[in-house]
Amino acid sequence: MALVTSTEMFKKAYDGGYAIGAFNVNNMEIVQAITEAAAELHSPVILQASAGARKYANPEYLQKMVEAAVNNCPDIPIVMHLDHGPDFETCKACVDKGFTSVMIDASSKPFDENIAITKEVVEYAHAHGVVVEAELGSLAGIEDDVKVSAEDSSYTRPEEVEEFVSRTGVDSLAIAIGTSHGAYKFKPGTKPQLRFDILDEVVKRIPGFPIVLHGSSSVPQEYVKIINENGGALKDAIGVPEDQLRQAARSAVCKINIDSDLRLAFTAGVRQTLKANPDMFDPRGYLKVSRQYVKDVVTHKIKDVLGSENKA
Ligand code: G3H
Ligand code: 13P
Ligand code: ZN
Repeated sequence: MALVTSTEMFKKAYDGGYAIGAFNVNNMEIVQAITEAAAELHSPVILQASAGARKYANPEYLQKMVEAAVNNCPDIPIVMHLDHGPDFETCKACVDKGFTSVMIDASSKPFDENIAITKEVVEYAHAHGVVVEAELGSLAGIEDDVKVSAEDSSYTRPEEVEEFVSRTGVDSLAIAIGTSHGAYKFKPGTKPQLRFDILDEVVKRIPGFPIVLHGSSSVPQEYVKIINENGGALKDAIGVPEDQLRQAARSAVCKINIDSDLRLAFTAGVRQTLKANPDMFDPRGYLKVSRQYVKDVVTHKIKDVLGSENKA
């Protein structure tokens, strides 16, 4: 199967009460881990590359690795998505290079400016058969080198979504309901709780419209422990409880973004293997372990959190 857009995927996910995992890709092992897990579970999947990932890996290498994954997993639908597109030019470059989906993230701009930039991307992307995700409200955390403090983050205002969606023509909408980017999502000692009341209000205003959740890593403590026991120092890393993500996946949330959990699993594999094998210097020795840990995380997400197993 060639790369597909997310249109059909989201429709089925909405109606079926599950969500599609959107996993960030930065290197070959991560691309392989995600797509092998998805193929074994017969699950649709979204591979997403940030501007930072494209800069790190070189856009052409990333693209070719995704192409190779598509060829190796002919039985599942795969979307190639630009994560947090910072401007029209980056979105255009991805559309021109064959991405099937792009996000334009102008959520830090005033409402009308966000609409204007999103609309420009939508017009270009749709003319080329590519779908567009945009964002209303802003999440705390770090994306590329931009850090948004908890004080500067803001929940999505449900009263704005209808106008935003109809004026931009966008295909899916990322909203802020308490998730955040990175591995430190909640203050220690507080109870992590997403704002399902805001999600419900949004859905009432745009029924049937696919919603996206960014910042949805759960920060598995088993990997944090491995990292900390093998020379790491990740203190008070806390993620979104998986039962709340499952609840979101059952509703209008059709795409759930996960990056930090893959980074934690990958790092755990490298640290653990090198500490246990001080004489090892063949990268394949430790990257093989990291790839397996990332695959284990993706398998668990698909089966137990997203509910997308056997939905390809
Ligand atoms: O939302 C942010 C993603 O985790 C991508 O992070 O911009 O460091 O590649 P990045
Ligand atoms: P996490 O940092 O929670 O994995 O979020 C990833 C994300 O939103 C990518 O866009
Ligand atoms: Zn994000």
